[in-house]
Amino acid sequence: MEENYEDIMQKLRKYNQNDFIEVVNKLDSIDRRFILNQVSQIDFEEIKSLYNDIGKNEEKTNSIIEPINAIDKSKLSEEEIKKYEDIGTKIIKENKFAVITMAGGQGTRLGFDGPKGAFEFDIVNHKSIFEVLCDKFKEAYNKYGVYVYWYIMTSVENNDATVEFFKVNDYFGYPKEKIIFFIQGKKPMLTPNGNLIVNEDKRLKLASDGHGGIFRILQEEKIVDEMKKEGIEWIYMGGVDNVLAKLIDPLFIGVAKDKNMLAAGKSVIKNCPEEKVGVFVKKNGRPSVVEYIEISKEMSEEKNEDGELKYGEGHILCNLFNIEVIEKTSKEKLPYHSQFKKCNYVDKEGTIVRPDKPNAYKFENFLFDVFEKLDDMVILRVKREEEFAPIKNAEGVDSPESARKLYNDYYNKINKV
Ligand code: UD1
Repeated sequence: MEENYEDIMQKLRKYNQNDFIEVVNKLDSIDRRFILNQVSQIDFEEIKSLYNDIGKNEEKTNSIIEPINAIDKSKLSEEEIKKYEDIGTKIIKENKFAVITMAGGQGTRLGFDGPKGAFEFDIVNHKSIFEVLCDKFKEAYNKYGVYVYWYIMTSVENNDATVEFFKVNDYFGYPKEKIIFFIQGKKPMLTPNGNLIVNEDKRLKLASDGHGGIFRILQEEKIVDEMKKEGIEWIYMGGVDNVLAKLIDPLFIGVAKDKNMLAAGKSVIKNCPEEKVGVFVKKNGRPSVVEYIEISKEMSEEKNEDGELKYGEGHILCNLFNIEVIEKTSKEKLPYHSQFKKCNYVDKEGTIVRPDKPNAYKFENFLFDVFEKLDDMVILRVKREEEFAPIKNAEGVDSPESARKLYNDYYNKINKV
């Protein structure tokens, strides 16, 4: 039920939102009513704890961090490979497998004005990242005779543009009913003193709540129920930006199933301590990822007795979950990671400010924090040149150019075989 004006104001005062109140009071009555209606949906206790927890994830905790064991794909015997691939192939052919591509990010570093997946990656054949990914589904159809479901997570910022992009491209020739879009959740951004923010459109400043919100959204939007109805048991979840990702990989599914694990993740060996990838570790005996923005210099540089990086099992955001994990963890709380970002806002004079440096906190759940809820998982170490060609930056490392080279080298090699 909608709260009245005085109740909302009282709540704002109770939670020290005085700066925000001042800005809201300067708005005209229509904008004010709209924004207060948005405010009435907010769980202020949660906002308070988000604010109090800022920086906590970066702090040294008492956790025991150890290296994690991985299965090295290149060391598997032919028999093992066949065994796992047979198990995975059966699961795919029985329509028990689906893919989720997480495409809700803003792709700021790439500097492309549009959903990252719409970026023209293959300049020779004029193919976007989405089309290159879709090719993998078509290849899988030719191999396994099934159209694997492709779920695409977007954000409020890019959903319309993403859906439209698929429409105008006629879903790249893939059956349209097998491609399902859903929008990830949002959280308010906060000023350094914990106040809510009025954005340049005179609305509450909200930002995507990170890909870890996926478990909650899958449940809330009843996508898990639909998946169960379809008989789907295994779900691959990956980022949109890795053009070499093996989205439909029977070996990966087969290893997880054979080892009786409910989740699996792929790794590549980090190429240097500074590489911007998270690392798989054991944290208090459970699988976990230490993200690159949160790892200490010492930890990233530490070597083992063989002279290799002690924490070198790079997380490439190619993970697999049994549907049981989604069902269980959708109700569990994952930690929020805060980042200080730039955001346009309305100040107390009613002027729109476009800052040139970060001014507000954004709160995100990370998908891989779910790993800590599991007793164990499979880490499958794969070769970078076969499975990891991310597009993050406009130039240099992890750019369209570097990804194109890796992609072309890989396909030239396999087409020669
Ligand atoms: C990510 C991983 C990092 C990993 C690296 C491998 C995170 C937080 N970190 O880093 O551990 O080593 O990839 O390339 O993911 N996305 C959403 N919604 C969001 C945020 C992101 O869908 O709210 C999607 C993006 O569209 C993208 C993917 O998640 O496809 C990765 O996001 P990004 O922020 O680019 O993460 P990285 O910093 O590259």
